[in-house]
Amino acid sequence: MSTSVPIGLLSVSDRASAGEYSDAGLPGLKDWLGKALITPWHAIEVLIPDQQVVIEETLIKMIDVQHCPLVLTTGGTGPAPRDVTPEATEAVADRILSGFGEQMRQASLQYTPTAILSRQIAASRGTSLIINLPGKPKAIAENLDAVFAAVPYCLDLLGAVRLETDPQFISSFRPSS
Ligand code: MTE
Repeated sequence: MSTSVPIGLLSVSDRASAGEYSDAGLPGLKDWLGKALITPWHAIEVLIPDQQVVIEETLIKMIDVQHCPLVLTTGGTGPAPRDVTPEATEAVADRILSGFGEQMRQASLQYTPTAILSRQIAASRGTSLIINLPGKPKAIAENLDAVFAAVPYCLDLLGAVRLETDPQFISSFRPSS
């Protein structure tokens, strides 16, 4: 029996999905998680255009069918009319975890004043956690650095899976009680 945890990685970009440029989102996500996680995991990767229905269907498939306890999206969080990743996330969510968006934007302001333009959210669906990240690879790392310490305990509380991180890269925080 495989004990490898499936993690959903969803890159949302009209132009990358049309082949106008190569996608940097999925490699950026895999690179960061490859350094962060000790728990065996494997990526379920999808690159799709900025279409809300397609994003919703992909999130639902990753969680309900492919049983990903964690899904990270990249791209489509800004204010442009085509940016609909947060709307799609909210549409499939059971509950919004507002602290993730608050913390990601606050931490990101140390890197760029345009951090306030990201409408990124995090949400639960069943026992799974979805986190929106901006599209730039640099932004993926900056945002995951800001919140991932709380992700393993969040997954404990949701009842999904136990994830362990490499403390030399990022320490997870679990209250001692
Ligand atoms: N957050 C961090 N940490 N680093 C960044 O470079 N870029 C910002 C913002 N958040 C950025 C960031 C910019 S320029 C935009 S437009 C928004 O994220 C939305 O990006 P997206 O549309 O690619 O999701």
